[in-house]
Amino acid sequence: MELVQWLPQPPHLRAVSTVFGYEITVSVRNACIRRTGRSCTHPRTSAALSPSPKRSLCKIVLDPHDSVYDISWLQQNDPASVTLRRDGLLKPVLWEADLYSKNKRDVNYDDFMRSDDGLRKALEELRDYGLVFIRKVPTNDTEVERIAERFGCIRNTFYGTSWNVKSMPDAKNIAYTSLDLGLHMDLMYFEAPPGLQLLHSLKNSVTGGASIFLDSFKAAAMLKKTNPEAYKALTEIPVTFHYINDGRHMHFRRPTIVENDHNEPVMVYYAPPFQGPLESEEVDRFYSAFHAFVNILKEPSLTYKMMMRPGDCVVFANRRVLHGREEFDAASGERHLKGAYVDWDDFKDRLRVFGRA
Ligand code: OGA
Ligand code: ZN
Repeated sequence: MELVQWLPQPPHLRAVSTVFGYEITVSVRNACIRRTGRSCTHPRTSAALSPSPKRSLCKIVLDPHDSVYDISWLQQNDPASVTLRRDGLLKPVLWEADLYSKNKRDVNYDDFMRSDDGLRKALEELRDYGLVFIRKVPTNDTEVERIAERFGCIRNTFYGTSWNVKSMPDAKNIAYTSLDLGLHMDLMYFEAPPGLQLLHSLKNSVTGGASIFLDSFKAAAMLKKTNPEAYKALTEIPVTFHYINDGRHMHFRRPTIVENDHNEPVMVYYAPPFQGPLESEEVDRFYSAFHAFVNILKEPSLTYKMMMRPGDCVVFANRRVLHGREEFDAASGERHLKGAYVDWDDFKDRLRVFGRA
């Protein structure tokens, strides 16, 4: 560790290293690690002890005490390196089916469960493509939860900690029929839809029922290029998602595309079967934009299609990769998938800890 002097320059402070002459302008709030006298951070947990920005800023500016900053902290928080790290860590690789099938790396179940390298590989596939296949998974009922727990805490919902997808006579959800299930995302009617979804194939001897996946970020980028007005409308007009069934009434409104502060899509919300009446005046603007987006989703080169075999478990970013399945003949055999969800926060946490940034 090296001592640095700091020069008040609100709202950021310029810190000048006395030894290396390193000079950098960063926000140093909450970063002082002085351990003597009145500490600014809790020594063991590194939680900030002066939570009010005004107070902590004023204190430093008006009453400079011998603040101590770790030089590596200052370097890491240089705005240039923050951008680099952010790009390295979570920059998606936009894909069409061809690119994905050429570059995908499946992960062996034993490697995934037992080694950091196996987990890292899965995390990196999810970071880049939002989609990964784990192979040779034992075909028992509890395995999907064990896989989910490698990524974080299982997200419990009214569907349970894990849930069965099979065709049944009195289906309460179209997923539990043998019908074609168009591209969609799950649980869009929740305020915080799960970021990761897992589907583990236990049985599949039916005719039909291929699984389909599509990178909605790629589709959004195509829309932005070809029809910027439609793209803009989809970032602005909230869509109603609801689930009114089986004694439940879930409801949430959100635009189809949500961007980050660099104007890149970070979340897409798309689930036509659960779309309610539009609660907006901009009906024409919305539907013409929405149809433009749907037309891009119909582009065959975007859809990656495969048959889930018993022992395959697919994991995907639920707010990026659209999923669906083709119709199957329920009389021709058995089809049984088991699903689970994990929050995106848990995934990002694991990626930061295990991934190579
Ligand atoms: C679902 C779903 C896919 C499948 O249950 O939400 O998308 O292959 N199922 O049955
Ligand atoms: Zn689904």
